[in-house]
Amino acid sequence: MGFLQLFIFTVLANSFAINADQSLNLNDEVLGLIVFKSYLTDPSSHLSSWNQDDDTPCSWRFITCNPATGRVTGLSLDGLNLSGKIGRGLEKLQNLKVLSLARNNFTGNLNPELSLLTNLQRLNLSRNGFSDRIPGSLMNSGSIKFLDLSENSLSGPVTEELFVKCLSLRMLSLSGNNLEGPIPNSLLKCTSLNHLNLSNNRFSGNPINSGLWSLTRIRTMDLSRNMFSGSLPNGIFALHDLKELSLEGNHFTGALPSGIGLCPHLNKLDLSNNLFTEAIPEFQALSSLNYLNLANNILTGEFPQWIGSLTSLEYLDFSGNDLTGTLPESMGDLRSLSYVSLSDNRLSGSIPLSLVSSSKLSVIRLRGNKFNGSIPDGLFELGLDLVDFSRNELTGSIPPGSSRLFENLQSLDLSANRLTGDIPAEIGLNSRLRYLNLSWNNFETKMPPELGYFQNLTVLDLRNGAFHGSVSHNSLSGSIPRSMSLLKKLKILKLEYNQLSGEIPPELGGLENLLSVNISYNRLQGRLPTGGIFQSLQQSSLEGNLGICSPLLKGPCKMNVPKPLVLDPFAYGNENGRHQGGRGGEGADQSSRSLRHHRFLSVSAIIAILAAIMISIGVLVISLLNISARRRLAFVDNAIESCSSSSRSGPSLSMGRLVWFDSKTDPNWVVSPESFLKKAAEIGEGVFGSVYKASLGEENGSDNILAIKNLVVSNMIQYPEDFDREVRVLGRVRHPNLVSLKGYYWTPKLQLLVTDYVPNGSLQTKLHDRPPSSPPLSWPNRFKILLGTAKGLAHLHHFFRPPIVHYNIKPNNILLDDNLNAKISDFGLTRLVSKLDKHVMSNRFQSALGYVAPELACQSLRVNEKCDVYGFGVLILEIVTGRRPIEYGEDNVLILNEQVKVMLEEGSVLQCVDESMGEYPEEEVLPVLKLALVCTSQIPSSRPSMAEIVQILQVIKTPIPQPF
Ligand SMILES: *[C@@H]1O[C@H](CO)[C@@H](O)[C@H](O)[C@H]1NC(C)=O
Ligand SMILES: *[C@@H]1O[C@H](CO)[C@@H](O)[C@H](O)[C@H]1NC(C)=O
Ligand SMILES: *[C@@H]1O[C@H](CO)[C@@H](O)[C@H](O)[C@H]1NC(C)=O
Ligand SMILES: *[C@@H]1O[C@H](CO)[C@@H](O)[C@H](O)[C@H]1NC(C)=O
Repeated sequence: MGFLQLFIFTVLANSFAINADQSLNLNDEVLGLIVFKSYLTDPSSHLSSWNQDDDTPCSWRFITCNPATGRVTGLSLDGLNLSGKIGRGLEKLQNLKVLSLARNNFTGNLNPELSLLTNLQRLNLSRNGFSDRIPGSLMNSGSIKFLDLSENSLSGPVTEELFVKCLSLRMLSLSGNNLEGPIPNSLLKCTSLNHLNLSNNRFSGNPINSGLWSLTRIRTMDLSRNMFSGSLPNGIFALHDLKELSLEGNHFTGALPSGIGLCPHLNKLDLSNNLFTEAIPEFQALSSLNYLNLANNILTGEFPQWIGSLTSLEYLDFSGNDLTGTLPESMGDLRSLSYVSLSDNRLSGSIPLSLVSSSKLSVIRLRGNKFNGSIPDGLFELGLDLVDFSRNELTGSIPPGSSRLFENLQSLDLSANRLTGDIPAEIGLNSRLRYLNLSWNNFETKMPPELGYFQNLTVLDLRNGAFHGSVSHNSLSGSIPRSMSLLKKLKILKLEYNQLSGEIPPELGGLENLLSVNISYNRLQGRLPTGGIFQSLQQSSLEGNLGICSPLLKGPCKMNVPKPLVLDPFAYGNENGRHQGGRGGEGADQSSRSLRHHRFLSVSAIIAILAAIMISIGVLVISLLNISARRRLAFVDNAIESCSSSSRSGPSLSMGRLVWFDSKTDPNWVVSPESFLKKAAEIGEGVFGSVYKASLGEENGSDNILAIKNLVVSNMIQYPEDFDREVRVLGRVRHPNLVSLKGYYWTPKLQLLVTDYVPNGSLQTKLHDRPPSSPPLSWPNRFKILLGTAKGLAHLHHFFRPPIVHYNIKPNNILLDDNLNAKISDFGLTRLVSKLDKHVMSNRFQSALGYVAPELACQSLRVNEKCDVYGFGVLILEIVTGRRPIEYGEDNVLILNEQVKVMLEEGSVLQCVDESMGEYPEEEVLPVLKLALVCTSQIPSSRPSMAEIVQILQVIKTPIPQPF
């Protein structure tokens, strides 16, 4: 002990500068705790009551003492934001029974001296950053009953030595570390063990070899998500006390042991995601079982007909096996059942009527089987939350009058069946529905055979937690209902490629939030609504109709057509038919009266559905798209050439000309910009030339720092008037996510652009060239940068006519301010390049390989703002994966978006997420990645617009919590 005393004294003398006399009076435990504290960082000063002048620590916070002896028995510092390591000092607390440091930021290895605490019964170090191996001596005292080391970064194999003295151990959790190798045989010595949790590690081998199944006192055993293998012995289920067994996510093989039915208390059994084969043995004796998950194995044979005897069952998942047969009527005996998933098997027959008596049912998934017959009456009155019957062979109609269905239902997928009839209008009453997929049915017309790409393209699939309203493949006709004007929050309205006819209700002009409308390729006619966005719609959003009145359209303007008669569609149809003559209105009019009626109601119903949903969640998109037509015309609306800039003849050489857009600023460097440039510090180099940082005028007190770009492009517009006009357009751009242009300086030899200086460098630096000293970007920051960039681009695309296209979106051009707000620089600079040299520029842009939209690589340069959307898609991928768009391997070239696409299809896409960003919410990252793939679609028209992207991102970031 001599060394220890000396050590502690030294620490105290150094850390607290007290004198030797005082320290000699200190209680040993005070001394120990003060030394322990000296290794810690305590940012919130929770330990400020720990004062080395006190005689006893018993009055300190987080300390428990035995009142009789005055000795410290408990130290519980859970969740205090402490960091540092467990140093010395604790060994002074010889009466300590409970040591709990959970939920802090402790790091370093587990100090072997913890084993000197000979009375320690409960050691909880969970959820810290402890690393390295678990010291074999940790439980040498033989007193530990509860050991929780979960959620750390412990690694390596667990040594046999660890469990040599574990007779008193009741609970052991090593879950959530990086431990590997087999379970040590010595664990067998822990005969009092009740609870064992080794989940989420990389343990391997067959647990039988360590005798795990002979720990007869075991009540809960969780070995899930490791690499365990081998088959299960029959004896495992002779464990009389076993209540919960989870072996999920391992490589266990063989048949399920038939002894499975012999654990009288078994409550939860999770064997999912293994390689178990053969039929499910009988275990109807398990009357306490309420959680049964055998999903994603290779189980075959008939669906167990005895399932009805598991009367306590609440959760049943057999999905992803190879089960055949039918569901027994006895399913209805499962009165407590609330979750059932049998998706992706080969089950057939009808959905048992008796299920209606499982009154607690809230989630029912039967996707991807061969169920036929109709949906049982009354099933939808159970107050379900989620129904997925997609990809079966169901016929009949949605049970009518199912009023309770629409109280709770959040997700309804009936797609790819053979359902007919109406979509009940009650769906429109539901305010909670977020996902509605009725596609690929026979609700109204026959489905076209091809898979529509609308489903890939839409936001619908992406918007986590938001509404999915796919009613595609059900061709829509009728008029646009006036009631749509109630959708006050509607932002995006897409009705293109349907059979909608009549006039556009003028009331729609009152929809002030509309950002984007497309009504092209319908059979609409008459005036456009006067308010809102309608008068500024582009040709591409209007064309292909029968007679819309707009100067943008060359076709006829048909006015004074009879208003669609909402209550009697037949009369209108007939009369209109005569008026239309040979204009293609006949086909629809000749269809039978009943079909017409039918369709008309359905359109209203669908719009009502959408209306209710939109109103309730404040979103956003109505997209009712007829696929084949859209596909046929995919390239048509792409032919707009927007990179127009003219260079007239007529030289007018002026000498040095300085133009300052904001006259309040006084550029005192004007005298000689050339010489000024020589003194400024170069901070970057881009496609268009070097960038300098310059400080202007301390005179007005504020330090006015600007960036100056020296344009060194040889093909710059040579005429000051043209140059001036183009730069002024860019000078009008003011947006928080765009670098403002302040002015320019022009001489025939030198052209300078002056912009705001953005202090925090570029995204390129933060992402790819990060100095070790600066922390990696977290997910919230990455998302913020994405959203900001999207907003900036949306402003360029949608606020200017013609749109300002960036052409060169990449991390180098995304600058960041002190709060990591994205500021896009270099936008619109192609406007300054003379037209003839556009293709020269396009070659320059090839240097940004990987970001270039495929259509830009063609010589034609018939491109529009969709090429920025492509670049933005690549940027998303880069930000999420931290990788470059193209990486050159030894003998191959890795193209990021191809790779991500493949990984997404394989379901392993999260593996490509940049590890350095730390924790991230899957439910945000996943839809963002999908969005990226939609943006990088090869076909420009398949890419969403930037305005839509902003909407989508905003929906992704404010997810409504998913209850399932
Ligand atoms: C931990 O730190 C965070 C961030 O500094 C703070 O918000 C939180 O209140 C702290 N918690 C405690 C228990 O001190
Ligand atoms: C723990 O440390 C990590 C990394 O150093 C830090 O990001 C985090 O904010 C810390 N947490 C607390 C609660 O102090
Ligand atoms: C350890 O602490 C964590 C977090 O506070 C808690 O969830 C867990 O139950 C504790 N373990 C034991 C064995 O007390
Ligand atoms: C669209 O989705 C289908 C299946 O859902 C898939 O086969 C197809 O490749 C996707 N198309 C694109 C362009 O991603």
